[in-house]
Amino acid sequence: MYTLRFLATGARRFIRAMSAATMNRKPEVMFILGSPGAGKGTLCRYIVEHYGYVHLSAGDLLREERVKPGSQYGEFIETHIRNGTIVPVEITCSLIDRAMQTSENPHNRFLIDGFPRNQDNLDGWNKVMADKVLLKGVIFCECSEEVCTQRCLHRGASGSGRSDDNEQSLILRHQTYLKNTLPIIKMYEQQGLVYKVNSMNTPEEVFQDVVAFFPKLGW
Ligand code: C5P
Ligand code: MG
Repeated sequence: MYTLRFLATGARRFIRAMSAATMNRKPEVMFILGSPGAGKGTLCRYIVEHYGYVHLSAGDLLREERVKPGSQYGEFIETHIRNGTIVPVEITCSLIDRAMQTSENPHNRFLIDGFPRNQDNLDGWNKVMADKVLLKGVIFCECSEEVCTQRCLHRGASGSGRSDDNEQSLILRHQTYLKNTLPIIKMYEQQGLVYKVNSMNTPEEVFQDVVAFFPKLGW
């Protein structure tokens, strides 16, 4: 009897200590980058389903902010989205920061999708967020421009409701990707932080690539 109670108390203490350790350690972050239509969001949904980590899409956060009643940035964000240009980091980073802080996910692990998209994004992140988190790596979803464009057009035609899933915006989005985002991916590659997946494959195959390297990161 005494032994049982002793064990139960021990188990409770252990669980409490473990959750405190998880919550006290810095949040772990994985950036997900790739051209528009490469399947970043789809991959994140697979990861969320199987691992339970938190998916924060910078684009989704901006779209939510855009339609918030009384948002001072609504029109400003919409113009950037239509033109495929990048919203100033102060806005995007504060949305990400707030979303991370309000998350009560027990893993304390975040997939940040579509960020950092340019040098301004990176500088802003380094200024206010980099010290608060542990960057585990960058998943680079590699896919041809043709396939990406077809996917986005198809998504637009099947009712995505996105104001940028049209040919004109897609040309601009792809230009931004080549000019502004690829150099950021290359920089992370030089730091040995990039995990490349072939996003021409099916979502399931892409996810299996991730399953193969996550253990190396302790994920
Ligand atoms: O990633 P997603 O395709 O949802 O992004 C849609 C648009 O949101 C981008 O083309 C850009 O205008 C805006 N965005 C941004 N900064 C980010 C991510 C997205 O300005 N870091
Ligand atoms: Mg997306």
